[in-house]
Amino acid sequence: MKYKERSERGRWGSKIAFILAASGSAIGLGNIWRFPMVVGQNGGAVFVFVYILSVVLIGFTVMLAELTIGRHTQKNPVGAIEHIKPRSPWKGIGFLGILTGICILSFYSVVAGWAAGYLIKTVSGAFRGNITGEIADKIFTEFSSNPLQVLLLFLLVIGITAFIISKGVKGGIERWTKVLMPILFLLIIFLAIRALTLPGAEKGISFYLKPDFSKLNGTVILFALGQAFFSLSLGMGTMITYGSYISKTDNLVSSAGWVCFSDTLIAILAGIIIFPTLFAIPGVEPTAGTGLVFKVFPLIFSKIPGGQIFGTLFFTLLLVAAITSTISLLEVPVAYLVDERNWSRKKAAFLMGSISFLIGIPSVLSSGGLRFFTKIDFMGWMNFFFGNVALAFGAFLICFFLAYVWGVKKAIGEITLGDIRFKMWPLWTFSVKFFTPIAIIIILIFIRTIAG
Ligand code: TRP
Repeated sequence: MKYKERSERGRWGSKIAFILAASGSAIGLGNIWRFPMVVGQNGGAVFVFVYILSVVLIGFTVMLAELTIGRHTQKNPVGAIEHIKPRSPWKGIGFLGILTGICILSFYSVVAGWAAGYLIKTVSGAFRGNITGEIADKIFTEFSSNPLQVLLLFLLVIGITAFIISKGVKGGIERWTKVLMPILFLLIIFLAIRALTLPGAEKGISFYLKPDFSKLNGTVILFALGQAFFSLSLGMGTMITYGSYISKTDNLVSSAGWVCFSDTLIAILAGIIIFPTLFAIPGVEPTAGTGLVFKVFPLIFSKIPGGQIFGTLFFTLLLVAAITSTISLLEVPVAYLVDERNWSRKKAAFLMGSISFLIGIPSVLSSGGLRFFTKIDFMGWMNFFFGNVALAFGAFLICFFLAYVWGVKKAIGEITLGDIRFKMWPLWTFSVKFFTPIAIIIILIFIRTIAG
């Protein structure tokens, strides 16, 4: 039975199923929590502008690169590299991806735990009546600095993730995304319209969409690029793993395009909810950081009749969106243990989930609790290092490996199995060989000047 399970690798049911699952991975707290946060901290519209460029010019290139490697080899990142270049140190790219995945999962699940806590708060009526910015601020600070409660919610998120992963790819991932992602999308549109019609919304819109190019600098570019990788789930092999379940006849180019498009659309819409609300109802600053969206969402719900119901729906869907992403983070290390080390899915999911839980504890405490940890912003550091630097470096290595170790010609051979014409091949070749790796390296050098 063990052998049979192993030899029957999961497959997506159809191309649409893949697009939904990959969008489920991409769309999550990265769009709704992290994107508005980094926009607010990095000058608003100018950041949005650089972000969109990063997605189109670099994110798409890397997305197609990962999917192609995955589908060609039908393996997890470590196995994929081993398949293309056996017994070489390049395998390290796969291990870096596994480490990055576990570390991102650790703090990401803490924030997902916050979303779960906010769901409970909304249901129990904590945000009823007229909420001001000051009240919302206080509620968040009190909530996030209560370590015991957050720890339990965090454990719940990791537990659910490990449970779903232990059930396997198709049964686990596909079922969730099919129905719930479209509902999330409609709800976000509705909230965006409400935010735009608040009196005083214009100031928020101009902060968010009218770029002031004098604010452009290296930090903005670095964070925009890092955010593009984070939001698109790139740079650590998630899309290699998801690509490995795609059928040979599917069109990778249009699939990659759809995932990039839907992910970016949701992020942009999340900003359209947050910034007009923030400027229309004072009390929270755009630079509020990790707590930003948790402070702003209750404000908009207080401006909608039946706000409690909308709030409940919203936090439920946010939690689901977060869990379809945590699943994809945990799937990478688990697929490695199952494919390469013959572990059972159950055991692998349990072990990797536990490790991630342990690494996440200081992130829980960094928002309060132990004084010692409040001085060092552990979560902020993990978010910066693994969520920007490690992903950018991983994306660089993946492009470099594809272009100079495997070879662009062979990659194009794989792509044309499902897209016979692949009209944009010259552009993609240029990007994957030169533009993308060089741009990432230049930006990574900027990091040293920022950090130093
Ligand atoms: N992209 C997800 C989000 O925006 C988070 C995520 C899932 C991720 N898998 C990833 C980020 C892999 C980086 C790498 O919420």
